Amino acid sequence: MTAKVLDGKAIAAAYRRDIRQAVQRRLSAGRRPPGLAVVLVGDDAASEVYVNAKARDCRQVGFHSVVERISATVTQGELEARIVALNADPDIHGFLVQLPLPGHINADHIIDLIDPAKDVDGFHPYNIGRLALRRPTLRSCTPMGVMLLLDRTGMDYRGAQATVIGASNHLGRPMGLELLLAGCTVTMTHKFTRDTSAAARRADILISAVGKPGLVQGDWIKSGAVVIDVGITRDQQGKLHGDVDFDAAARSAAWITPVPGGVGPMTRVALLLNTLQAAGEVDDGG
Ligand code: GUN
Repeated sequence: MTAKVLDGKAIAAAYRRDIRQAVQRRLSAGRRPPGLAVVLVGDDAASEVYVNAKARDCRQVGFHSVVERISATVTQGELEARIVALNADPDIHGFLVQLPLPGHINADHIIDLIDPAKDVDGFHPYNIGRLALRRPTLRSCTPMGVMLLLDRTGMDYRGAQATVIGASNHLGRPMGLELLLAGCTVTMTHKFTRDTSAAARRADILISAVGKPGLVQGDWIKSGAVVIDVGITRDQQGKLHGDVDFDAAARSAAWITPVPGGVGPMTRVALLLNTLQAAGEVDDGG
């Protein structure tokens, strides 16, 4: 193996230490802690794991943390009423609604209702639009976490070829916008792309966000590339797999993320940073 590993777990822990200090300074100044609420509808097992991890992070950095557990039988109107209440809650600086939602709920309408200033997931059309217009405010957490990881490589983004595999609303699309903002020449591939491997092979930065283990093969990797694996699939034994054939890719890449312990912890750090920003600790450039 020649690639260096981008250790998201360790990098995230360092960020949490800094965030904790920022919270302590805020408390010493007599201000309230940043408050994050997570709304969990139903009893999806994977969502439960993610939500518990987010609450644990909050406790670690000293945030006020609320998890609202809501029955899967909630109506659209009842859930919308909860969003309106959180928008108005002065102790909650940011909140998110964990996805996926039950099939009878229109998730787009729920996200549209979130106050963009409290949208710490960065999913609201206003926040995606700001990113598209090069004036980012609250940025989508996984793409933001990936950029924090890429920063660790010290590479020059300007003119670099970046390929994003997968064009979902919450991962691939905002990821492409982040890379474009950073100065990369971006190729997006998706289910209608004729030759994804060709787009991968020319990438200085290759990001896979599909959720298909083994999709990205070793011979797809350009020598010296940075390979970021956003895919995460749990097999029947409960083991987590990325999209990238890690061992084969690590023979050509300069940098690579593991799964688990790569992008996942950085997504959660981005959520904490967004909450700090929503609580007024970071100038968002308005
Ligand atoms: N489901 C899986 N990941 C996420 C996330 O980052 N935010 C939300 N809201 N739902 C998710």
